[in-house]
Amino acid sequence: MTARHPELDQLLEGLVAERWSCRAYRGDQVPHDKMVRLLTLAQRAPSWCNTQPWEVIVTEGEGIERFRTALASHAKEQGSDLTPDIPMPQQYKGVHLERRRESGWQLYEAVGVARGDRGASARQAFKNFELFGAPHAAVITVDVDQGPYAVLDTGVYVAKPPLTKVCLFTLPNTGAAMTRPARTANS
Ligand SMILES: Cc1cc2nc3c(=O)[nH]c(=O)nc-3n(C[C@H](O)[C@H](O)[C@H](O)COP(=O)(O)O)c2cc1C
Repeated sequence: MTARHPELDQLLEGLVAERWSCRAYRGDQVPHDKMVRLLTLAQRAPSWCNTQPWEVIVTEGEGIERFRTALASHAKEQGSDLTPDIPMPQQYKGVHLERRRESGWQLYEAVGVARGDRGASARQAFKNFELFGAPHAAVITVDVDQGPYAVLDTGVYVAKPPLTKVCLFTLPNTGAAMTRPARTANS
C-alpha cells in the first residue's frame, strides 16, 4: 500500500474484496491476446531464487473439450482410488474441520442439493472434473525434483495480485490435480 497512490490502493482493495470462486461458466472464449496479457502479468510473481518453476499449459478452442472429456472419463474410471502427486491432507481438526464442512454445506445449498442427498452431491462434486463448464483450463506443473518449494511458488503464482483480475472469475481446481493419469516414477 502506498500513500502516494490512494486510488490504486482503493482499486486493489476493491478487486480483492470482490474475488470469489466461480463454479459455473459461460462457454465464451477469452480472446487470445487478453490471455497472453494476463499470463504475462502473472509471470511477475516472486519465486524461490527466481526459479519461476511453473510450466503452464492453457487450453483453448477444441483443446478444452478434449481435455474435459479425457479428465471426466479418467475420473470415472479411477473412482475413489485417488493417486495425487501431492498427498491429501491427513485430517482436518477443530476450526479447520468446521470451516471445511460449512463451505461444503454452503455450496450444496447454493446449488439446491439437499443435505443427505448423496447422489446429487456426488453429481455436483463431479463437476470438478468437467471443469465447471469453463471455456479454458490452465494446467500448471512443476518439476518433481523441486518438491514443496516449487509447489509453494506456484501457489503464489496463481494468487498473486496481478492475477486478481483473472482470479475474480476463476477457480483453482484440486479435483483435476487429484486425478493424474497412472505413470511410472520416471515419466
Ligand atoms: C489451492 C486451492 C484449491 C482449490 N480446489 C478447489 C476444488 O477442487 N474445487 C472447488 O470447488 N473449489 C476449490 N477451491 C476453492 C475454495 O473452495 C474456495 O476458495 C473457498 O471455499 C473460499 O471461497 P471463495 O474463493 O469464493 O472466497 C480451491 C481453492 C484453492 C486455494
